[in-house]
Amino acid sequence: MDQTQQNLEEPPVVPVSDASPPTTTENISPNIRDYKGLKYDLNDPKFKGLGKNAIKRILKEELWEASRPKRIQHQREKDKLKRAERRKLIEDGVLEPPPKRQRRPEITLANTNIVLDCSFSDKMIPKELQSLQSQIVRCHSANRTAPLSMPLTITSFDDAFEKVMDKKGGSWTNWKNVKFERKSYTELYDKKDLVYLSADSENVIHELEEGKTYIIGGIVDKNRYKGLCQEKATKEGIATARLPIGEYLQMASRKVLTVNHVFEIMIKWLEHKDWEKAFMEVIPQRKLKDSSLIHNGDDKDKQDEDEDEDEYDEDHEDNKSATEEKTEEKLSDPKPVDEA
Ligand SMILES: C[S@@+](CC[C@H](N)C(=O)[O-])C[C@H]1O[C@@H](n2cnc3c(N)ncnc32)[C@H](O)[C@@H]1O
Repeated sequence: MDQTQQNLEEPPVVPVSDASPPTTTENISPNIRDYKGLKYDLNDPKFKGLGKNAIKRILKEELWEASRPKRIQHQREKDKLKRAERRKLIEDGVLEPPPKRQRRPEITLANTNIVLDCSFSDKMIPKELQSLQSQIVRCHSANRTAPLSMPLTITSFDDAFEKVMDKKGGSWTNWKNVKFERKSYTELYDKKDLVYLSADSENVIHELEEGKTYIIGGIVDKNRYKGLCQEKATKEGIATARLPIGEYLQMASRKVLTVNHVFEIMIKWLEHKDWEKAFMEVIPQRKLKDSSLIHNGDDKDKQDEDEDEDEYDEDHEDNKSATEEKTEEKLSDPKPVDEA
């Protein structure tokens, strides 16, 4: 019997105990393929309608995901070695020992809560979800280092977003002073204590009140969904308010800010009790370009109502200092080469 004939015949029956995983693709099924050691079935529904390159991309991502524990382990070992080398250099007097770190003072919590409403994961593309993850890391960093922190609750925290948070390492699960809740804020708080922040609100906030819970819409949408949060809050019977930006600053673009900038402004307001100072310390210089302080209280909102929101990714360059972020980035994934 020649080789071709043999391949067309039924495979011999192997007793279960003797059965070992097949080593070649040909003798399993014509649809089983091998990509760099990863066996896959072309009939798998997830490949339906996809071209060769798209399938390859999925497989590449799967391989990359599968290698995560190894990569993290490798990075940890590298860091350990580096620390040992550095210790040795200090012991030998080649390097100066680092100055003794001061213990971080205990966190002082404000009596004003903040909620990040993460109920919009179905409205964002993966890049925007990733962007939101970075913004949340920034909020947490700002909150940790602030003289007065706000108790932070992330509501409607769903599986999709949990996956995004996990992608950058699991350290978020150890964050202090942050609660991750599957429930919506309406199930957790009394409606009368809630204020949904929205650039589209007619009401202007003048101070952050004790006992109140302020909600920030956890969404990165490049302003695709204008008025989304305002509408949601109105439907739910929750008060809304916008930051008093127009009363203090004349900005180069529309006054829809990113989640982390709104959060940081609130933290700064708690510290200084001064909106102008808070805005100047948080809003990036390039957004303030061609803008001026308004000392007479004129609200110049109207003239820039139709302009688009600024690029979120650019905003990320403005606050690179957070130690938390650096640690996260170190343990996070270097991108596969062809995605960079
Ligand atoms: C990128 S914005 C979302 C824009 C979205 N289209 C919407 O409907 O609000 C993210 C969140 O930051 C808050 N925010 C942004 N700019 C604000 C402003 N000027 N005043 C109050 N809140 C603001 C809101 O809570 C908003 O939901």
